[in-house]
Amino acid sequence: MEGRAEILKSDGLYHVYDSNAEDGNVVALRGLHVTVYEGEAVAVIGPSGSGKSTLLKCLGGLMKPSAGGVELAGRRMTRITGNELVKLRQETISFIFQDSNLLPHMNALDNVAQPLRHQGVLPGVARSKAQALLDRLGMGERSRGMPEELSGGEQQRVAIARALITNPKLILADEPTGALDPITSREVLDLFKKLHKEEDVAFLLVTHNREVASFCERSLELREGRFIAQHGTDVDIGDLSGSRELIIDDSGTVTLPPDVLLKVGGPGRFEMQDIERDLMHLERVDDEKVEISKTQQFVLSPACPACKHNYGENEEQQCPDCGSSRPMVQA
Ligand SMILES: Nc1ncnc2c1ncn2[C@@H]1O[C@H](COP(=O)(O)OP(=O)(O)OP(=O)(O)O)[C@@H](O)[C@H]1O
Ligand SMILES: [Mg+2]
Repeated sequence: MEGRAEILKSDGLYHVYDSNAEDGNVVALRGLHVTVYEGEAVAVIGPSGSGKSTLLKCLGGLMKPSAGGVELAGRRMTRITGNELVKLRQETISFIFQDSNLLPHMNALDNVAQPLRHQGVLPGVARSKAQALLDRLGMGERSRGMPEELSGGEQQRVAIARALITNPKLILADEPTGALDPITSREVLDLFKKLHKEEDVAFLLVTHNREVASFCERSLELREGRFIAQHGTDVDIGDLSGSRELIIDDSGTVTLPPDVLLKVGGPGRFEMQDIERDLMHLERVDDEKVEISKTQQFVLSPACPACKHNYGENEEQQCPDCGSSRPMVQA
């Protein structure tokens, strides 16, 4: 993907859900960096509650992240005004969600045609394009049905048609085939593949489905709000240990996937015998003493990037307010 323009980019993305519950705020995203290039398909995988939907909502500008910026087609979303943002999103990006979010008072056809109507396309033209897409998704005969009269899978196909009608450059999809039977799911997937191959549409897809993940060029593994690894093509979600690359983020943090941690013998301290560019050799050590060099260029961040808690003189590694790990910053 080198040499291609970035369609979506975000750095240092944090999100905290405020909560009145006793267990306090939930830190759903902990400093994520994501880049999707034009025409690239990337899957996001990870267990339930790891932050996948939160990530998609923040990246799509549907939710404001607590910290960090998102660039869509080279433009910083937080810096542009409401109308411009709406226009940029309309022209570039479409969403497909776990729940299809159809407008309840409009039939399937009008739901699909609606984004084009918003762009000022004439009703007849918008409707015929909508009908053609519904035909393609096997929903041609149900186009006059109201959302409440449609099954979950049918509603999902209408939502997919609605997302595709504006010819987006990027599709953000959260479990797009979750509500579909295997046959329909494969049809949707074939359509995605075709859009990806023939029309260079980029995808960022949240999925548990290995067939969906395998059409992507790479997948990112999310756990507790951090990317812990990246996988190349032909990912077997059932066995994530193959072809896995670990990710070290810009604060120097590497989070080991649980199975890798187990393999290296669990948490502990490690000595680095050889360090070279692109190579690091770790060996477990038992002695207790840890010394931090005075010439260190990085210091603990004075404030929490997620909730702005001020650490003061404290050397805590984890934010007492929101539980985010404390990053190192340049001194
Ligand atoms: N509106 C909310 N208020 C408070 N906490 C929330 C809210 N939405 C999500 N969370 C919490 O944030 C974390 C991440 O949630 P998220 O929905 O992003 O997970 P997910 O990876 O999409 O999970 P799933 O696979 O089940 O859809 C979870 O701990 C969840 O409980
Ligand atoms: Mg989710």
